[in-house]
Amino acid sequence: MTGAEAATPPILAAMAWLEGSALAEFLRGLGIWTYGLLNLGHILGIGALFGTVLILDLRLLGLWRSVSIASLARPAVPLAAGGFVLAVFTGVAMFSFNTTEYHGNPFLYIKLPMIVVGLVNVAVIQRLGAWRRAVAGSSPGTADRAVLAVAGGMSLAIWLAVITCGRMIGYW
Ligand code: HEM
Repeated sequence: MTGAEAATPPILAAMAWLEGSALAEFLRGLGIWTYGLLNLGHILGIGALFGTVLILDLRLLGLWRSVSIASLARPAVPLAAGGFVLAVFTGVAMFSFNTTEYHGNPFLYIKLPMIVVGLVNVAVIQRLGAWRRAVAGSSPGTADRAVLAVAGGMSLAIWLAVITCGRMIGYW
């Protein structure tokens, strides 16, 4: 092994692997519209995720109390999940086009762990008694309202951070 190979950071090695993978080769060979269409899919996924999260989180923060959390959550949660899956698949596909160019981009290095934080936050919220009672249809009392407001505020902050970092990646 040469000195240069020994010094390659693992993250750069992983990026180079993705860029040289069969998936990346295949996608790059599809034609000039591929990246643009993947970007379109990414935006549609983000739109479905954030559009639904925004309404649900603002409700958890106390807006539109006449609308029950249960009736909002029913369409919002699966739409957000579907949007998230689309954003992840298209994001990884776009990333594979020229992965190593993103090496050292702080916005990417904040965005990816922030997505994990977002998922952990979803897992925590789904285990909260306050959330379970609200989606079962009961009207939250003062304590539950406070818990749900914190959860909604955190969710909004996390996904806003992910979107901000995603948008800024290209400007670094
Ligand atoms: C593993 C998951 C993801 C990966 C690998 C990924 C990767 C990427 C890449 C490579 C770009 C293009 C950056 C550029 O060169 O300008 C991008 C753009 C973007 N991403 Fe993601 N992404 C992922 C998930 C998400 C999620 C879940 C969101 C939002 C909730 C998001 C929000 C954005 C935004 C707002 C842009 C800018 C789009 C544009 O300006 O056209 N990404 N992402």
